[in-house]
Amino acid sequence: MVSDGVRAVPGPGHGYLPPGEGWVKLNQNESPYALTPDEWEALWEQLRSVPLHRYPDPNHAAVEEAIAGLTGLSPSMVLAGNGANEILELVVRSTCEPGDEVLTVAPTYPTYGRFCAMNRVRLVEVPWGPDFAFPLRELLAAVSPRTRLVLLCRPNNPTGHLYPGREVLALADAVPCLVAVDEAYGDFAGDTMADCVRSVPNMAVVRTLSKAYGAAGLRFGYLLASAETVRAARALQTPYGLSGFTQAAALFLLSRPDAMRRRRDAILAGREDLVRRLGRVPGLTVFPSSTNFVLVRTAGSADALDRHLRARGIAVRNLKWEDRHLRISVGTPEDHVRLTEALEAFDAAHAWPAYGRDG
Ligand SMILES: Cc1ncc(COP(=O)(O)O)c(C=O)c1O
Repeated sequence: MVSDGVRAVPGPGHGYLPPGEGWVKLNQNESPYALTPDEWEALWEQLRSVPLHRYPDPNHAAVEEAIAGLTGLSPSMVLAGNGANEILELVVRSTCEPGDEVLTVAPTYPTYGRFCAMNRVRLVEVPWGPDFAFPLRELLAAVSPRTRLVLLCRPNNPTGHLYPGREVLALADAVPCLVAVDEAYGDFAGDTMADCVRSVPNMAVVRTLSKAYGAAGLRFGYLLASAETVRAARALQTPYGLSGFTQAAALFLLSRPDAMRRRRDAILAGREDLVRRLGRVPGLTVFPSSTNFVLVRTAGSADALDRHLRARGIAVRNLKWEDRHLRISVGTPEDHVRLTEALEAFDAAHAWPAYGRDG
């Protein structure tokens, strides 16, 4: 009853943990900071005026105009959706036919593979160069007659690194397809390619309120692209798919950029604290980060350290990458204290005998 293509689609991710169980939750790159009571109060006021007995605006005009105002783009170049995830899937679906190819640089956000599988599209992964250099030449060599989209994560998840925008522009200049830049973590890098979509018609930028804005539970993201790309993605959206509450709450958050900056700055300070603490743990190599998480290389089994942390109520992302990499989100100062205590209790010499001998 189910088609073979659908059977091959992997299920949703497994990062969710029920709240209220005391987890130190550092596995999904969420903001550790909730809205303040005053912000909640003001937000309730806005939500109270949403006419729940009427359909919401299917064109999301108010919130898209607000985004246009913030980015300096025309509203025809903005599309709002249910998180960057919905937008990314629409970008894949609106550019590719079954059997087409999407190019990306690996390792990256694994959900790109899921969106490709959902659309019977082949994901072609080009590895990062040495020290995670952008593999411009290799990407160009991987372009085939079936390549319809290049999907780039900038800064990249899970490596956390930012690579030069000029290399992305050079790629966009050379390929005959759309280049979509996923800027889910762009607010932390203080760097965006949003301006480029004005002058480069085959570029698109995807952004979200899930990270620096601290609203992963809201499910709001948006696309910035040429009017033609936006129109095609909009045509594939479920009618009335973006609820009136979501539109109102997104408008509320976007109209308070200072609150976002305060939370982002607290997370950036937290990242320094996290990097300092991790840097003191024997056997861990911490990579530089332009995001709200850090990539850590372990001298022995990452599985063993992940199990140790989970047993102490600490969730990090086990990347299953050579069994040597974990990704740890920036948490609150209290989260970092609990993480540090758990790391200090990890007996590396016992769990990682080879490392214990050498190191
Ligand atoms: C690179 C990247 N893109 C997109 C998303 C999904 O964002 P959203 O919550 O807006 O769907 C994530 C979430 O972790 C991400 O890491």
